Amino acid sequence: LRTIYIAGRPAWYDSAGQQVEPFVIGICGGSASGKTTVATKIIEFLNVPWVTLLSMDSFYKVLNEKQHHQAALNEYNFDHPEAFDFDLLKLTLQRLKEGRKVDVPIYNFVTHSRESRTKTMYGANVIIFEGILTFYNAEVLKMCDMKVFVDTDADVRLARRLHRDISQRGRDLEGVLKQYSAMVKPAYCYYIAPSMVHADIIVPRGGENEVAIKLIVQHVHTQLQLRGFKLREKLAHSYTGQPLP
Ligand code: C5P
Repeated sequence: LRTIYIAGRPAWYDSAGQQVEPFVIGICGGSASGKTTVATKIIEFLNVPWVTLLSMDSFYKVLNEKQHHQAALNEYNFDHPEAFDFDLLKLTLQRLKEGRKVDVPIYNFVTHSRESRTKTMYGANVIIFEGILTFYNAEVLKMCDMKVFVDTDADVRLARRLHRDISQRGRDLEGVLKQYSAMVKPAYCYYIAPSMVHADIIVPRGGENEVAIKLIVQHVHTQLQLRGFKLREKLAHSYTGQPLP
C-alpha cells in the first residue's frame, strides 16, 4: 500500500494507481452500553496510523421550534430512526470510504442541536462508526466490513445513562427516567436489539471485555495485512506477466 498525501489528507493506492478502501467497523448497541469505550480500546490496541471514529450523534436532525420544546420536556424521540439524517450519514461514510475529506457536524446534547463549528475528518486505514442504530439502514450496513454489537445489561445501561445525562447532558432524574421508559427502552426493544442478528461479533459487557476487543483487533490486523498481501500479489503478477488468478 502506498500512502499519498493530497492537500494534507492521506489516500491509499495500489500499484495500479487504484484507490484502496479503508476497513470499516460498525459498532451498534443500546444507549450507554459502552460503544465508545469499545471503539477507543479497539483504536488503542490496533495501534495503526490513521483511524477515524465517526459517531451517529453527529447525524441527529436539526429540530424545529416545536421539537425543541418537546426535547426540553423530555418528550422528543431521539431513539427513533426518524431522528437521524440517514442521507447525510450515508454520504459522509461513502466519502470517507473513498478517502475524501468531510466536515462532520458536532452535536450538543445539552442544547439538542448542532454546533456552529464542524469537525474535519479524512479517509483512513480504519473507520469506526458507532451508534444506537448503525445496523438499521441496509445501505449503511453494506458499507461495514465488520459488524460488532455491544451487549450490556439493561440495568447497567440505565444506571450509566442516569449518571451521564445528569452530570454531562444537563438533565434531571425525573426527566431521564421519563424519556427512558417512554422512548429509550421501547426503541431498544423495537429497533436495536433485533438488529443484533446482523452482528459478526457480539461483545458481552462492553468495554471491560478486553478478550473480545483483542479478538476484534486481531481480525482487523489480519484483514489489513491481507489487503496488503493481495496488492503485493497483484504487483508480483504484473512484474512476471502471469495472469491474475
Ligand atoms: O451516547 P449514546 O449512544 O447513549 O447516545 C444516544 C442516546 O442519546 C439516545 O438514546 C437518545 O435518547 C439520547 N439523546 C438525548 N438527547 C439528545 C440526543 C440524543 O437524550 N438531544
